[in-house]
Amino acid sequence: MSVIRSVITGTGSYLPKQILTNSDLEKKVDTTDEWIIERTGIKQRHIAAEDEVTSDLAVIAAKRALESASLDPNQIDLIILATSTADQTFPSTATTIQRKLGITGGAAFDIQAVCSGFVYALTTADNFIKAGQAKHVLVIGAEIFSRILDWEDRTTCVLFGDGAGAVVLSSQNGVGNNTDQGLLSSRIHSDGRYNELLFVDGGVSSTGTVGQLRMKGREVFRHAIVNLASVVGEVLEDSNMSSENIDWIVPHQANKRILDGTARKLKVATNKVIVTVEKHANTSAASIPLALDEAVKDGRITRGQVVILEAMGGGFTWGACLLRW
Ligand code: UT7
Repeated sequence: MSVIRSVITGTGSYLPKQILTNSDLEKKVDTTDEWIIERTGIKQRHIAAEDEVTSDLAVIAAKRALESASLDPNQIDLIILATSTADQTFPSTATTIQRKLGITGGAAFDIQAVCSGFVYALTTADNFIKAGQAKHVLVIGAEIFSRILDWEDRTTCVLFGDGAGAVVLSSQNGVGNNTDQGLLSSRIHSDGRYNELLFVDGGVSSTGTVGQLRMKGREVFRHAIVNLASVVGEVLEDSNMSSENIDWIVPHQANKRILDGTARKLKVATNKVIVTVEKHANTSAASIPLALDEAVKDGRITRGQVVILEAMGGGFTWGACLLRW
């Protein structure tokens, strides 16, 4: 039987030039390099320049992904951007990216699932491809979280950074079993009861302001490992696989302790987890494609391997994708 599969044919990423180290943060809030590294694994984060907006970061990552897929921008028939830090309230930042890439056809829209945004966007793109409604989709995660942080709150401002990552997802034929290349399973979840554990205290229809990020970190941490291990179990089961089949986990880069804890719960060796959080901190929807791009470009992820992408974020939202590279 021939089935349609969505295959990642190109990856790209971008981090703004300015770097803010933990030592720089010691001068702003009551924190230490040692505390941040021990509790999170983060050493530095990148901060967008004053004149840079989210679509600027996204366009650079997207161009790099298109180049690695050897595709022309006009071959893209759908752009899905995962972001919580849009350029404007409307239109969608995805349409701005479309304009900046010189694409005049197809469709473009944003997805809001905070740190799970990339998994949500990839799952959506996969469904468009499987339904035969798109052939080449640009899936991007891009964020400028530095603009929604309370720079006087040491419990949150040390954790986040700015960046963008992108993939090209293309339609290919498969035979319909788990030896196929491409996305074999994806699952997304949300539970709005946990809204108040991680949120931004502003918005268009509530305060009329942008607001700042607020988080009860310890409680988010507690839910993260349980939810992530559970959703990875679902995509493994969907694909008739077990954790022994996993070659790589490319997690949302929030905190090294969460990455290691989830791997341990899944009984996957921690050296199979791609970790980049030390270089760019938590970049929300951008973190999975940033980590993926690094591991693909440096040759760790190779064709045929089984790769898990997983994330959890505000809402709560969480999800995972299983793909054969
Ligand atoms: O991206 C999706 C969602 N986000 C996450 O996944 C984040 C999940 N949570 C976490 O990563 C961790 O909970 C944090 C890194 C946020 C915090 O680590 P923790 O081990 O849970 O620390 P804690 O919140 O229990 O705080 C321990 C202590 C507290 O002091 P007391 O009450 O024990 O005296 C905090 O006030 O550390 C203090 N603290 C700090 N100290 C130095 C909190 N932030 C800082 C700081 N520097 N930046």
